[in-house]
Amino acid sequence: MGPSPVSTALCSALLLATARLASASSENGKEALLPSYHYGAPIPIECMNRSIETGEHISDENEQIQWIPFPECSESGRSLEFHYGVETELNCTIPMIDDPFFHLLEFYVHNDAPLACRLPSRPAAQVEIVGESPPEQEYIPLVFALAGTLQKSHLHISTHLNVLLHSVPKHHLHHHDSGVLDSGAAYSTSPLSHMAGTASKRLVIGDPLPLQFSVRWFPTPALPKTEGTVEWQGMGGHVYASTIFYALVSFTAGTLASAVYFFGVILPKRLRGRGMGGATPLGYGVNGVGNGWGISKRID
Ligand SMILES: *[C@@H]1O[C@H](CO)[C@@H](O)[C@H](O)[C@H]1NC(C)=O
Ligand SMILES: *[C@@H]1O[C@H](CO)[C@@H](O)[C@H](O)[C@H]1NC(C)=O
Repeated sequence: MGPSPVSTALCSALLLATARLASASSENGKEALLPSYHYGAPIPIECMNRSIETGEHISDENEQIQWIPFPECSESGRSLEFHYGVETELNCTIPMIDDPFFHLLEFYVHNDAPLACRLPSRPAAQVEIVGESPPEQEYIPLVFALAGTLQKSHLHISTHLNVLLHSVPKHHLHHHDSGVLDSGAAYSTSPLSHMAGTASKRLVIGDPLPLQFSVRWFPTPALPKTEGTVEWQGMGGHVYASTIFYALVSFTAGTLASAVYFFGVILPKRLRGRGMGGATPLGYGVNGVGNGWGISKRID
């Protein structure tokens, strides 16, 4: 007797599920094999090499952007680096601002070009799997938003920057693993008082540039929470990120239909009912929908 249709179907369903499971666990396995930063591990910083004439980034012969180490700090005698998970006040004096670097600073301060850098999201892989090409190194962007003003003969530069770094929580397969980088931001503080304040420097070519970094870490991509919940304010009440996410997901399918219904049926009725007042149909609609989109931008 051959196999019944039911058992055949069951069998193939089971096979399919097993195959899916296997492929899922091999993905997880690969992820687990990739190295992650341990607490205190040095994280090198590379920045785009730029033309001092135009501020444009420089590409190599393969049209790849050329990344060069952040300038050397006289304190450490090494290029600037952060350390995984280490919150610190870090001094980095660039010993002498030469003519090319001075011109680049002018580009940065004027936002003609960003001081665009990158950090490896995880340490380089040490172990190679036989028969597989080593995984490509991934980087997170870190743009130093440097504030200052340009004068005829000199520059004023804000010398204190906050550096915020987010890491990704890991399910610790090996407990000494700490995690990988998720994202980061760096910006001059108090840019408006930088000409008077102590955290600023009047700079001419040949001067040292004493930079100070306040480095802080977040253990997740999320910003700090209140009572265990990410809280969004300023929408006339407390709205929770998870609520918005759920709402976005569940409403995506019906959005078009409901929008058509709202703008086509409900809104005209309401407007007729209340008279136009000060609200134009468009203004009314945009306000009603606007909050949702504003928040959705902040989630992704
Ligand atoms: C950056 O590019 C310039 C112009 O091509 C080059 O002269 C310079 O050596 C590069 N900098 C580094 C650190 O490679
Ligand atoms: C960093 O520099 C500031 C200003 O020069 C100084 O007051 C501070 O002690 C230095 N901090 C460290 C850790 O060296």
